[in-house]
Amino acid sequence: MDKFVIHGGRKLNGSVRISGSKNGSLPVLFSTLLSDGPIHLSNIPTELRDIRLSLEILQSLGAEYQIHPDGSVKLEVTDSASTTADYEQVSKMRASICCLGPLLARRGEARVSLPGGCSIGDRPVELHTRGMEALGAEVRIESGYVVAKAPRLRGNTVYLSGPMGPTVLGTQNVMMAAAGAEGVTVIEGAACEPEVQATAGFLRAIGIVIEGDGTPVIRIEGHGRLGGDSCLAGCDYEIPPDRIETGTYLLAGAIAGGEVVVEGCRPSENSALLHLLERIGVPVEVGESTLTVRGVESVNPVDIAMLPYPAFPTDLQGPLMALMCLGRGVSLITDKVFPDRFNHLSELRRFGARIRKEGPSAIIEGGAPLSGATVMASDLRASACLVLAGLVAEGRTEVTRIYHLERGYERMEQKLGQLGADVEKIDDKMAEKIDDREMARG
Ligand code: EPZ
Repeated sequence: MDKFVIHGGRKLNGSVRISGSKNGSLPVLFSTLLSDGPIHLSNIPTELRDIRLSLEILQSLGAEYQIHPDGSVKLEVTDSASTTADYEQVSKMRASICCLGPLLARRGEARVSLPGGCSIGDRPVELHTRGMEALGAEVRIESGYVVAKAPRLRGNTVYLSGPMGPTVLGTQNVMMAAAGAEGVTVIEGAACEPEVQATAGFLRAIGIVIEGDGTPVIRIEGHGRLGGDSCLAGCDYEIPPDRIETGTYLLAGAIAGGEVVVEGCRPSENSALLHLLERIGVPVEVGESTLTVRGVESVNPVDIAMLPYPAFPTDLQGPLMALMCLGRGVSLITDKVFPDRFNHLSELRRFGARIRKEGPSAIIEGGAPLSGATVMASDLRASACLVLAGLVAEGRTEVTRIYHLERGYERMEQKLGQLGADVEKIDDKMAEKIDDREMARG
């Protein structure tokens, strides 16, 4: 098991290129189950663990694929017999619930393991299953699996907003099912995230008519039952850049720049972060596909809530918290999407940060000097938060269990290294022993 060793206090300077979007790629990969033609996807972040796992799941469902060194993937479904995505695979990655829609649409049935909860809090899928039922599927939970059957799906109006707002993967899952329904489906209360638009763009490329993606009402003209002669075409499709990786490097630049140029991004998709940086006194220059940020010694405090797009994204809540440790006063960060997503908080305290949690909020008393510490990554974005804190903390920081980080950030140690950070990835034998002991106990 690997860990990062960071010697903090080095100024970051130079440019960093953003990879293709992880969360934009995952549902697109599962959408390929709808098509019978060859598919060529470019700008896929192929080094990420979640991408590799998705490809393995697709293989178990009858797809053949090749990964090319330029970060593209060729893929073709050659066997449509299997309808089961099993526990071993789905439990490792929540996005694999997105098999449900395309399997139902293309194969008439699906047996997909429930993804279960995870370290960022409760993550139910009832909005996904309710959406499938609205399209005419019979859905039941059996032995930990969502078992769904629908010899024919029929278009309908589906409402996909829950107690915490719209569901991002749920919207994409229902869009994929609706692609194989008869007639028109209208999704109301749809998620507006750019990743939903990425999936819509792919579905358009394989021949589905979709309007309204990026707004709360999406209209999908179903192709009708897929299979036999009635199939969807192959296509070439490019995945957009990762807006969360973009935001993470912007925040790294704010914490530890120098001057950092984030290249190959879409600035408009990070407008909530850009407005916030302006408000707290971090200078950012906005180009067409670049963002240039200058580091600061301290920032104005904030009171901000994580909400669905276009508001500030929950996936940047952790990295933002690292920056707010430099606040000139008390900041309040509230996560209204995942109110329990605060695993990084107690680890930040090891650096000397003064933080406490109250309900869905973290209260950060900025300005305490941070000193390097050994901290444990517990989920993807919490890991990024700890790495950012390590960049500015004085002395040596170890971030253990960075496999979480590698689910969502390609070669982060190299990208930060190119900017001048002192970050080394090393094999952590000790953590392996601890993990073995934990497993033996479990
Ligand atoms: C996606 O998860 C992302 N994952 C998450 O990124 C991201 O944090 C999240 O959207 C919110 O932006 C992928 O795209 C692979 P939701 P998703 O369904 O779609 C509740 C990362 O770090 N809810 O939009 O699973 C839910 O509990 C990951 O890259 C229900 O109540 O999230 C949450 O409070 C982590 N019922 C809220 O809605 C449901 O049926 C939003 O969840 C589904 C969700």
